[in-house]
Parts: sequence; structure tokens; C-alpha cells
Amino acid sequence: MKVAVLKGGRSLERNVSLRSGARVEDALERLGHEVHGIDVGHDLVARLRELRADAAFVALHGRDGEDGTVQELLEIVGVPYTGSRVGACMRCADKVLAKHAFRASGIPTPDFFAFSEAAFKELGATEALPAIEERLGFPLVVKPSDQGSALGIKFAGAATDVPAALVAAFSYSDRVILERHVTGNDLAVSILDGEALPIVEAVPRDEDFYDFEARYEIGRTAFVCPAEIGDELTRQAQELALRAHETLGCEGFSRVDLLLDAQTRELTVLEVNAIPGLTETSLLPQAADAAGISFDALVERVLALAS
Ligand SMILES: Nc1ncnc2c1ncn2[C@@H]1O[C@H](COP(=O)(O)OP(=O)(O)O)[C@@H](O)[C@H]1O
Ligand SMILES: [Mg+2]
Repeated sequence: MKVAVLKGGRSLERNVSLRSGARVEDALERLGHEVHGIDVGHDLVARLRELRADAAFVALHGRDGEDGTVQELLEIVGVPYTGSRVGACMRCADKVLAKHAFRASGIPTPDFFAFSEAAFKELGATEALPAIEERLGFPLVVKPSDQGSALGIKFAGAATDVPAALVAAFSYSDRVILERHVTGNDLAVSILDGEALPIVEAVPRDEDFYDFEARYEIGRTAFVCPAEIGDELTRQAQELALRAHETLGCEGFSRVDLLLDAQTRELTVLEVNAIPGLTETSLLPQAADAAGISFDALVERVLALAS
């Protein structure tokens, strides 16, 4: 097949995408496809029209690439593409929409409130902070609604930390989530073709939590796969992840991030990533490997599901 690999782009996760893209290109070449890497920019539509590829492998992360923007262009140009359709990408990219959808479907997600910058600037949302803090407790988590890779996420240990955390989050997004903090384990359940793969547990070494640097530097985070949480919790986490994937309407593949409360052993869903990372340290490839699916086989299966 003639395959366009879409990578790079303008998002803050550009470098991660370039690494995912390069790895996907190598795999596709080994599989015998004709591969054309496209660093996504102003000439995207022109290049797609000129290339007339049989399919596009979307190896983009973050804004534009993962939020439905590029997918809409692919629909218009008429090139079959990997992963979720436009609507599902939009729902995954917006954590507020996703969390409301989880709530409506009975999928547990940490309690939260979300505000736009206008609510603070024009509608006196600051006055509501003490009530929110009382309900969520401390520490609480402040995060932008539409970023990835832990960018802009802060843990506020006390009321005095909240304003600065809000300012930081608003620098990434015009909507911010205040969320209950869950002390426990970080679990990632990757979904491939309607099935949950073995769970990856991320254990940060010297960070407060699983943050941006820790994520992409080999050795900074220890991964355990399959996660050692027992059969029953494994089954529950995989079932919840599959429900989250389906609730948001995802297709092909995705990665669902969950937390396991250390005390109550309760599972909650944080988010669904419509285009999971495919770098050397990424979680979906690790999960596939644990299931006996090589990176090349993973790429081939994702491509075969393109439509
Ligand atoms: N409510 C929370 N309680 C505890 N840790 C959290 C919470 N929300 C996020 N985190 C930590 O931050 C990481 C990134 O959060 P997530 O919501 O998945 O956003 P991102 O899109 O940046 O991956 C999580 O994997 C977890 O380690
Ligand atoms: Mg996440």
C-alpha cells in the first residue's frame, strides 16, 4: 500500500509525534509498504491531494492531530485514515466533555469542576473556589481541559496554591478542570481492535508523579506490564477501559488512563487518548509486546483498520 505517515505538526507534543512517526515509518517499510512521511503543516491538503495515498497513518499527538482537525481534512480529501473518526477525537481531546460522558454512562471518574477563563474574569467564579475546595479536598489537581503529556497539570496542596495552578493551566487552555486527587497507581489500558491489552503500570522513580520529562526519558519511569494488581482488578480495569473507549466512540485503537486508589482499591478513568504514543518508551507498544504482538504487527493491524 501507499501510506502517508502524518507526523510532527504544531502541537506541544510535536517531538513525541516525530518519534512516533519515525518508528511507524520504519515498521511500514519493513512490512513492504510504500511510505511517505508528511510533517504536517500549511501544505497538508495539497500534499495529500498530490500523493493520493491508499491510507494515512496518523501519528500525531495533541492539538490538531488528535482533536479531529486533521481527521476532518482527511475526510474531505477522501483518504482512509487510522484511528478514531472526527467526533470521537473531539470527545477524547476535551477532558471536560469526556468526563461528563463518563459520568452519564456510569463510568467512575474523579469528582471535578470545570471553568472557562471567562467564568473567572466575568462571572466571579473565584467566589466559588472555597466550596469547590471543600468538596474535592486537598491536594487537588488543576489541569487544562485539552492538553496531553501532563502539560500544565499541577497539584495544589492548599488553598494558597490554587490561584497559581489556575494561571498555569489557563496558559495552556481556556478551560480548566479542578479534580479530586487520587493517591494510588497509574494504570494504562490500551485498546486494540475492540480488545483490552495487558495493563501497564507506571511507577515514577524520582518525580512527584508521572510527568512530562519522566515520560519520555528512558529510565526515569519504571513500567510494570502486566500490572501486578491481581486478576479481579485487572479484569475490572480492562472492562472499564473498553467501556470508556466505546462511550467516546473510539475506533481502531486508543489508550485509556486510569487511577487505582491505594486505599479503597477503586478504579477511576482519567481520560482516553485517541492516538496513543508509539515511541520506544510508549505504553501501547509495551502492552502489545506483552500480548505477543510485535511493533510491526501492531502497526499493520492499526493500518488494516483504517477506513
Ligand atoms: N486526579 C488525579 N489524581 C492523581 N493523579 C492525577 C490526577 N489527574 C492526573 N494525575 C496524574 O497526572 C497524569 C496525567 O494526567 P491525565 O489526566 O492523564 O492528563 P494527560 O493528558 O496530561 O495525560 C496522570 O497519569 C497521573 O499521574
Ligand atoms: Mg494521560
